[in-house]
Amino acid sequence: MKIERFDNDDVLAATLATRLIAAISLKPRIVLGLPTGRTPVALYREVRSRSHRGHVDWSQVRTFNLDEFVGLGAGDAGSYRSYMQAELFDHVRIEPLNVGMLDGRAASLAAECARYERAIERAGGLDIQILGIGANGHIGFNEPADALDAKTHVAALQGETRRANAGLFGGELGRVPTHALSMGMATILRAQEIVLMATGAEKSEAVAGMIDGPLTTRLPASFLQVHPRVTVMLDRGAARRLT
Ligand code: F6R
Repeated sequence: MKIERFDNDDVLAATLATRLIAAISLKPRIVLGLPTGRTPVALYREVRSRSHRGHVDWSQVRTFNLDEFVGLGAGDAGSYRSYMQAELFDHVRIEPLNVGMLDGRAASLAAECARYERAIERAGGLDIQILGIGANGHIGFNEPADALDAKTHVAALQGETRRANAGLFGGELGRVPTHALSMGMATILRAQEIVLMATGAEKSEAVAGMIDGPLTTRLPASFLQVHPRVTVMLDRGAARRLT
């Protein structure tokens, strides 16, 4: 793992935005795996401001988001689809057909998960997967457990994860869905390259375990240790417990 420390969130986001945009110009048909949440907000802000007036050619870029809440989809406030539209897709000239999102309202969630795996495969796999990390060590919605799912699946969200997402639902925990669809561990680990961003001291324990701890299903991000091309980008708070 390559570990990079930044003075703050803004420098981290600007650095990753520069790299992403360079990657898009090197490979216009790049396939990106994207996260939602609080951490990438600064990254998307930076990317959309640099994409302004056609400075970045998004016309062939393909994306797949990591996850979506069960029961929510396009048009639902609180869905990750709405988050992505607001934070990025509404501001860049990406082809709607090139945007891959899980549909949390699909009639058959199992069929929707299988469709997503096939779509990623048909696109040639993920070139770069960008990740955040939960304070409990989850990546995507692969929550700590005795065993982890390899493929895209329906995930039961832990209390801590639901609380962390309450902001999307007016702070009302009762409105946060109990389940989500999520890429699996193998879906993520098959990406050619992985970049994990973590900011804030509340992530420092999970970050330390991911980098220095044992491989364990109790800290799903620890499995990134086996991937040959992982960059971990940290602000001071998140790097606090590293030796
Ligand atoms: C979101 C996702 C999650 C988040 C993680 C951190 O698509 O897959 O794993 O990356 O929960 O969330 P924030 O950035 O809100 O702390």
